[in-house]
Amino acid sequence: MDDDPASDEHERFRFETRSIHAGQEPDADTGALMTPIHANSTYEQDAPGEHRGYEYSRTGNPTRTDLEANLASLEDAEYGRAFASGMASINTVLNLLDSGDHVVTGNDVYGGTHRIFTQVYEDYDIDFTFVDMTDLDAIEAAFREETELLWLETPTNPLMSIVDIEGAAEIAHAHGALCAIDNTFATPYLQRPLELGADIVSHSLTKYLGGHSDVVGGALLTNDEELDERFGFYQNAVGATPGPFESFLVLRGTKTLPVRMDRHCENARQIADWLADHPDVDRVYYPGLDSHPGHEIAREQMDDFGGMLSFELDASLEDTSEVVSNTEVFTLAESLGGVESLIEQPAPMTHAAIPREERLEAGLTDGLVRVSVGIEHAEDLIADLETAIESALH
Ligand SMILES: Cc1ncc(COP(=O)(O)O)c(C=O)c1O
Repeated sequence: MDDDPASDEHERFRFETRSIHAGQEPDADTGALMTPIHANSTYEQDAPGEHRGYEYSRTGNPTRTDLEANLASLEDAEYGRAFASGMASINTVLNLLDSGDHVVTGNDVYGGTHRIFTQVYEDYDIDFTFVDMTDLDAIEAAFREETELLWLETPTNPLMSIVDIEGAAEIAHAHGALCAIDNTFATPYLQRPLELGADIVSHSLTKYLGGHSDVVGGALLTNDEELDERFGFYQNAVGATPGPFESFLVLRGTKTLPVRMDRHCENARQIADWLADHPDVDRVYYPGLDSHPGHEIAREQMDDFGGMLSFELDASLEDTSEVVSNTEVFTLAESLGGVESLIEQPAPMTHAAIPREERLEAGLTDGLVRVSVGIEHAEDLIADLETAIESALH
């Protein structure tokens, strides 16, 4: 396949084919099928200033180039840039802003995103307004003269709220602001925000795109050449780029993204249905359930509902801690998106930094449990949850 993401491969090949081949050609010299790990910092020049596409690996590395082309193809983007982590991607978008600028964002964005906004960029005189992103009127009302960026996630973490991407992007554009979306939870297999009007897509490659809990990485995708050039400038100027081994691992991961996501979604659907009927469960947060307030929007903007879900046990903080500590197949751990199922309790773990009253007001109760549903057998996962709940609560 052609390396050029602007080629006609989008029209010719479907997602499953592009996930395996886009950006990757057998090595011209050896025929090696897989993109080599170009473990290399510098490159020979034919004459001073005359190089063959690469000068120095912070600026560009052939393994990274293939990954960037692959990710761009999957998001139906013209341009892709890879970074050392999801946070490095987010930081790069924030590098676009100037002192005095204002950002509108969600009141339930990922904790690390909230931290970089409030503990790094507010110090540079950039102001952030946190709103309920499921309410388009609230987004509209938060805009000011100096708003330059709308930053959102959908589905959100851990309550799986769904934001209307098309509606939100229209508001941003009406105010002359950029709309950036963190698409980590959905992945491009389930949701392509650029098609819905977003200007920038950000990813933590650490999650589903890598898919095996063995690599940390990030990416930015866009159709805007000028933005892409600035992202490339920041890759080189700031230096938070992934090494060739990390790039290789993510390329290896994206090949199986469609089959993994199908199983993540199917398992999550079965677990959500089972939990919805469980007497100890007060509420299930999964956008695939008819009862989920964002279900209709999710049906429109997603191809399936993902592998993340949360549920609220009718139990105290301590008893809920016992449930999540008692599983055998689910591992008690933060993070998400790997082939193995993970379980966590937001109150004392991922969302512990939020004061209790504020946390309860946001719906993050003591009995809330979040799971990243892996690709094991669904019946083993359900039996594991059943035993953990039964032994801790009865
Ligand atoms: C939605 C989301 N965005 C960004 C990040 C940050 O990514 P990384 O850990 O790769 O820096 C995370 C990490 O958990 C996340 O869940």
